[in-house]
Amino acid sequence: MGSRSSVAKQQLVLIAAALVLAVASARRRPVHLRLYMHDITGGPGRTAVPLVNGTGPLNPSMPAGSRFGDTTAIDDLLTEGLGVESEPVGRAQGTYMLASLREPVLVVSMTVVLTAGPYNGSVLVVAGRDSVLDETRELAVVGGTGQLRRASGHVLWRTARLESAVHWVLELDVHASVPADDTRVATQ
Ligand SMILES: *[C@@H]1O[C@H](CO)[C@@H](O)[C@H](O)[C@H]1NC(C)=O
Ligand SMILES: *[C@@H]1O[C@H](CO)[C@@H](O)[C@H](O)[C@H]1NC(C)=O
Repeated sequence: MGSRSSVAKQQLVLIAAALVLAVASARRRPVHLRLYMHDITGGPGRTAVPLVNGTGPLNPSMPAGSRFGDTTAIDDLLTEGLGVESEPVGRAQGTYMLASLREPVLVVSMTVVLTAGPYNGSVLVVAGRDSVLDETRELAVVGGTGQLRRASGHVLWRTARLESAVHWVLELDVHASVPADDTRVATQ
């Protein structure tokens, strides 16, 4: 009887320890960033270049000549403020593809490398659907590296302004989280 109850006690202790670890690993730290992305589609300072000309039909909702499948490679500057001359904070590198036959929809697949601030050197991976005429679009934060390892969340994405017909400024509000540092609990 006595040994049976001590086994039960041990089991309870193990269950409690597992719960503590589960809670610790579920604990996450928020990451909020506001970035301005400069997508320059023409001229000498161009940062977005056509990579593939789609062979699909013309898409009637996009600028003349746009075809389903058109794919653009980007290496866009990210700044702290709206102006291109404000503090540089990173680059958005990846692609977007005209992914709808008829609607103005791009599918974005990009990495965001931060080059300033507490996440300098860390990367967020962002992917999602950009219905370009919508006021606010929502893309997903699907991962990260460095200080942003195992990031998840979303990006609220707005066209903030268009300068000189080729310079699109996009406002990216990143609402993500990363696992909180749980070494203290895990080593107890
Ligand atoms: C795509 O077509 C345009 C003309 O519409 C041309 O200037 C450009 O070089 C082509 N790009 C590729 C990658 O073939
Ligand atoms: C970011 O990190 C790089 C490499 O460690 C360093 O050279 C650079 O000065 C840092 N930038 C800022 C703004 O802290």
